[in-house]
Amino acid sequence: MQHTINSSIRPLYLIAFFILIFGNGNLLAQISNNSNPSLGLVVEHAMVVSARVEASQIGIEILKKGGNAFDAMIATDLALAVAYPFAGNIGGGGFMVYRKADGTTGALDYREKAPQLAERNMYLDANGTVIPDLSILGAKAVGVPGTIAGLFEVHQKLGSLPFNELIQPAIDLAKKGVIVTESDVKSFENQRKKFKKANGTIIPLDRNWKIGDTVKYAELAQTLERIRDFGRSEFYEGETGQKMLAYLQKKGGILTLEDLKNYKAVWRQPIQFNYKDYTITSMTLPSSGGICMAQILKSIEPFDIGQYSHNSKEYIQLLTEAERRAYADRAYYLGDIDFVKVPISQLIHPEYLAKRMQDFNWNQATTSSAVSHGSVDWSESDETTHYSIVDAYGNAVSVTTTLNGAFGSKVYVPEGGFFLNNEMDDFSVKPGTPNMFGLIGAEANAIQPGKRMLSSMSPTLVTYQGKLKMVLGSPGGSTIITSVLQNILNVIEFNMSMQESVNQPRFHHQWLPDVLKMEPNGFDLKTISKLKTMGYQIDESKSIIIGKVDAILILPNGHLEGGADPRGDDSAVGY
Ligand code: GLY
Repeated sequence: MQHTINSSIRPLYLIAFFILIFGNGNLLAQISNNSNPSLGLVVEHAMVVSARVEASQIGIEILKKGGNAFDAMIATDLALAVAYPFAGNIGGGGFMVYRKADGTTGALDYREKAPQLAERNMYLDANGTVIPDLSILGAKAVGVPGTIAGLFEVHQKLGSLPFNELIQPAIDLAKKGVIVTESDVKSFENQRKKFKKANGTIIPLDRNWKIGDTVKYAELAQTLERIRDFGRSEFYEGETGQKMLAYLQKKGGILTLEDLKNYKAVWRQPIQFNYKDYTITSMTLPSSGGICMAQILKSIEPFDIGQYSHNSKEYIQLLTEAERRAYADRAYYLGDIDFVKVPISQLIHPEYLAKRMQDFNWNQATTSSAVSHGSVDWSESDETTHYSIVDAYGNAVSVTTTLNGAFGSKVYVPEGGFFLNNEMDDFSVKPGTPNMFGLIGAEANAIQPGKRMLSSMSPTLVTYQGKLKMVLGSPGGSTIITSVLQNILNVIEFNMSMQESVNQPRFHHQWLPDVLKMEPNGFDLKTISKLKTMGYQIDESKSIIIGKVDAILILPNGHLEGGADPRGDDSAVGY
């Protein structure tokens, strides 16, 4: 799906913000659609920022009822599965990083897994060549979904309201329908051929949708009702699971009932590190997000990047060189920690990182071939979705969830009303061959039955002097990590407001291909020219968007400022 940064397409953009009085209580909930370039919505108590206003509103409703951030997470996640089928899902997976009001932190991994029948070379032909699209489009691309397991796990450990109250708003939304935005029209339109290819038949979204139409999701509403009534097992072995399997198997998929029954979400210790006086908590493996972010921020820390102007030549160069080195390590070392040994503490050790930066030269770009070998092609993407929540009790939740590609594998379970992921493409299907994000992988991320594929999703929290400062994350495949860390730097090094930070143009380097991606029309032409002179290959293609960051900043007086990314339909709602 393609967006431009300063899209003026949404009617809500025309409204700075407006106030809604919700059904519950007397509290006013405010909605911001990020039309103010320098300051986002500011509220006193609680906030949800997500890819769709419907989902943010549903999350806030739960908070206003007295639910906590974890309750709101469940309701928001399910609402996104309805309102934003592009990436919101019940057929995918995700990660949550949280911080409770008492300061304790944790992380939940509900990432998809390779089915038991998966094989290392399942996407290669007899000559060992990657079969185009097999890991991306259609039933073979589907990993065992984790979302429903994850939501029930969160509910059991941290929720406070009954599950049926948390799922009901999504059911109601699916029945009432969702208004089609211009972004929706584009994303539906872009995928129509692929919907047909993956399903062999017309699916409900495969229509000539117009802005302002209402899409109703009757089958999805019924699926959610069954999950409400029968619980987690409905998805993994009940009617929904059976229907999903029957459809997948008919389409050539390899998932079995055993795969579904055996799926478990896993509580993990998040990655935690200091950058200057700040503590950053982010996702650990099987996401590379926390480790890569730690590597990049610890690599630049000795250079005091804040002394350079924001997005200046020096700033871009320093960050790019740290990114180049971190992504080279990502490709070689990182994989599912349940299957491979990863030297995490060495990789993020300041001495190791200082050594990695030793050959950095202010006058000249390092070439990626000097860091390692390879030459690849890649395409950018803004799939996946992130939301941030802070409740009135002081709990914070940062969640990134995905189907991987737009609408995942495009396989749509007709009787279930939902799409299934194509997360298998996040494995290294052949060492040295790039995936859909152009990421190269090695042995550590090779396919094995039951293994989780390496991710870049980086749900993140920042604290300062023991207090919550930021909650943030982004979609964007490989660009997630660099989008999140640029926003951390925008706020803590350049003192930007959350909205101002989110609005800033972003850049990205991932080692291979040796290309510096820069969002178009956002950077000083002289800076670009100087970077080119030093040997940086710059890609400023018109369509590039780098991440869609949805974030919350806790202001010194304790109020919350939302940063809802104008690159999408994203929206902050709070009270
Ligand atoms: N599927 C995108 C990611 O997990 O990084």
